[in-house]
Amino acid sequence: MALTQTPDLAAPRSAQPRKKGANLEKWGWIYMRASGVLLVVLIFGHLFVNLMLGEGIHGIDFAFVAGKFASPFWQWWDVLMLWLALIHGANGMRTIVNDYVTGATTRKVLVWALWIAAGFLILLGTLVVFTFDPCLGVENSTTDWLIEMCSAR
Ligand code: HEM
Repeated sequence: MALTQTPDLAAPRSAQPRKKGANLEKWGWIYMRASGVLLVVLIFGHLFVNLMLGEGIHGIDFAFVAGKFASPFWQWWDVLMLWLALIHGANGMRTIVNDYVTGATTRKVLVWALWIAAGFLILLGTLVVFTFDPCLGVENSTTDWLIEMCSAR
């Protein structure tokens, strides 16, 4: 197209036949909205419980985290927040990369790097939440309540 010509932005996209199969872009668009709604509840619930209830921010220490991870409710809350936010963030970054990176190879490398990083963090975070054991390495600890609690197990 000559540079003096302006593209017809109102031209119907249906001029190009739509590819058959699952429309991943549509599901990605829906995922961003659905996960956004859930993340509002999960993130603000997380902030309220951690920062405002009880002693608030001053109550956050190893025991507080260990206490939360001892409860399946908070384990699932945190894992859901982790999965939804990382997939949401990676998919949002994929949109930005697709919008702004003009080189096809660079775009491909960056989008792959995004999903690999998100997958690695999801795996690591999920393992930490479900395998967390406050008594691991307690023999090197000098914290009285922890030694007492772990020797009682
Ligand atoms: C409070 C919870 C959140 C809500 C309600 C929310 C909502 C949304 C929505 C509706 C979009 C789509 C915007 C569009 O297509 O134009 C979006 C995009 C995005 N979100 Fe979130 N989000 C939340 C949390 C997060 C978190 C925790 C992250 C990071 C891990 C994140 C990273 C992104 C990115 C990178 C984009 C792409 C921005 C763009 O397309 O320009 N969001 N968000």
